Amino acid sequence: MAEKVVIKEVAARDGLQAQPKHLTVEQRIALLGALVETGVSELEIGSFVSPKAVPQMAGTDEIAANLPPAQLAYSALVPNMKGYELAVRAGIRSHAIALAATEEMNQNNIRKGLEDTFTMGEEILDRAAAEGVDIHAYLAVAFECPYEGAVEESLVLEQVDRLMQHQPARLMIADTIGAANPAAVHSMMRKLVDRYGSERLGCHFHDTRAMGLANVYAALQAGVRQFDASAGGLGGCPFAPGAKGNVATEDVVMLCESIGYDTGLNMPKLLEAVALLSDMIGAPQGGRAHTWLSKQCA
Ligand code: COA
Ligand code: ZN
Repeated sequence: MAEKVVIKEVAARDGLQAQPKHLTVEQRIALLGALVETGVSELEIGSFVSPKAVPQMAGTDEIAANLPPAQLAYSALVPNMKGYELAVRAGIRSHAIALAATEEMNQNNIRKGLEDTFTMGEEILDRAAAEGVDIHAYLAVAFECPYEGAVEESLVLEQVDRLMQHQPARLMIADTIGAANPAAVHSMMRKLVDRYGSERLGCHFHDTRAMGLANVYAALQAGVRQFDASAGGLGGCPFAPGAKGNVATEDVVMLCESIGYDTGLNMPKLLEAVALLSDMIGAPQGGRAHTWLSKQCA
């Protein structure tokens, strides 16, 4: 039996949150329906954030109330305790919280300093543990910050140690602006896997510098088996200048399956979801292997 790689599909959140074209709630629900069809086991539906800060994610509560019935883990991003409460009220029991490794990134993203962000993160983690809610804690800009530059590995390791004391269901190392390289990824993830095992760790890569897949491979070699990816490679953070799309789900599936892992995703269905997304956005989307994959599936 092939070893499993778990993919969390983030096109409906990271994919859409920085798009100049704002999709309607109905379109976002239709997109989620197409993504469910791909067979993905984890699907992020949107964010419970201030609609003033990220208008693209307004109406995520309505989306939560109209999710396609499916046997998979739906999750949402929450930036603070208010978002946590809104998500729980909407019936979402798996949340992503994003804590950036640097002062400036936290200030720009959620208007809080580094220490306040971590204190808030710990409060959310402790409350979620008591209430049986799963939290995936993201350490954002874990390799490079768009405001402060390179981030030291030793700092990230310390921050992970701090967060792990509050038992996140998963700790995600996020290369928010796509500045990591495979050597840095392998070095960091090997140390973390040695310390915490691979079950509670995952990686979130952007493909800004064409190293997205190489970074996924480096993380796989280090023992990581959980990855975020976005159908069509759509993505970016509105508060991280220079961040391009996430590593494309179809590219990650292709890589993993070609070297013997099982992702459980259906490639033709995934390409259908990418086509729908392209229609909705009004511009062609697709990962680096899009042309080849489309020919294979034709
Ligand atoms: N969802 C919806 N509304 C929220 C909210 C949330 N999670 N948190 C705060 N608000 C509302 C408040 O109720 C308040 O509303 P009012 O003006 O009608 O009274 C308003 O937002 C301001 O509240 P405040 O706590 O002062 O927030 P802020 O202005 O300091 O903004 C965040 C902080 C976190 C809400 C905002 O920066 C944000 O939503 N950031 C999103 C970041 C993001 O999604 N980044 C990309 C992914 S990492
Ligand atoms: Zn991202």
